[in-house]
Amino acid sequence: MANSYLFPLFLSLIVISSVSANFQRDVEITWGDGRGQITNNGELLTLSLDKSSGSGFQSKNEYLFGKIDMQMKLVPGNSAGTVTTLYLKSPGTTWDEIDFEFLGNLSGDPYTLHTNVYTQGKGDKEQQFKLWFDPTADFHTYTILWNPQRIIFTVDGTPIREFKNMESIGTLFPKNRPMRMYSSLWNADDWATRACVWSNGKSSCPNGSGQGTTERMRWVQKNYMIYNYCTDTKRFPQGLPKECFAA
Ligand SMILES: *[C@@H]1O[C@H](CO)[C@@H](O)[C@H](O)[C@H]1NC(C)=O
Ligand SMILES: *[C@@H]1O[C@H](CO)[C@@H](O)[C@H](O)[C@H]1NC(C)=O
Repeated sequence: MANSYLFPLFLSLIVISSVSANFQRDVEITWGDGRGQITNNGELLTLSLDKSSGSGFQSKNEYLFGKIDMQMKLVPGNSAGTVTTLYLKSPGTTWDEIDFEFLGNLSGDPYTLHTNVYTQGKGDKEQQFKLWFDPTADFHTYTILWNPQRIIFTVDGTPIREFKNMESIGTLFPKNRPMRMYSSLWNADDWATRACVWSNGKSSCPNGSGQGTTERMRWVQKNYMIYNYCTDTKRFPQGLPKECFAA
């Protein structure tokens, strides 16, 4: 009862590996009291979560545009209520941010991949996806490509979302503030486990030869997208954001 916290219901772990980066040199573990660890001469970083708290790290440098490739393996088993994040963010109250978030689930049930883009502190650009593989079984590469023209979210080389610079029609786009890279594992309880649709059927990966990048992204968006702010008319009764109507 009073001391039930001594018996954690679950221990979650995320392992991140990198070939080109050296975690020892490039990042610092910023919280987690020993739950975040860098091993293998800087090649491996693990974040863990227990009943008391999670852990996280951030890059030592800030970047204005770039491409971040992270190989991540999420922990299997009961991850319900946990959120694993990989994001870029600038400091301040009118910050810019580009998000990948993995919303955990009960044993055997799928994670949801959540994406968002903030400019000057304003977000509301969510899109959510199912994955076509089990992200806990192996390492997969999650990439954020950010340049002045566009932001592309990619999973194992397959683009799942493109957020174009549409400042010409008045949509905000992050391009003036350098961002730091952050990653963390934490417990968000209920909000992370809300419902989405998942089909348990096996699907072939959208990586067949001859499929163009745009076609592969369409394939993911048609088959795996489970939320799109651009179709959420209830949320925007005054009209969907302008960029939703652009090609
Ligand atoms: C967890 O799995 C269930 C059953 O497949 C699904 O309905 C739910 O949306 C999933 N939750 C998350 C956070 O992905
Ligand atoms: C495509 O995906 C399949 C199924 O996961 C995998 O076996 C195959 O190696 C992949 N092909 C390429 C070119 O990545």
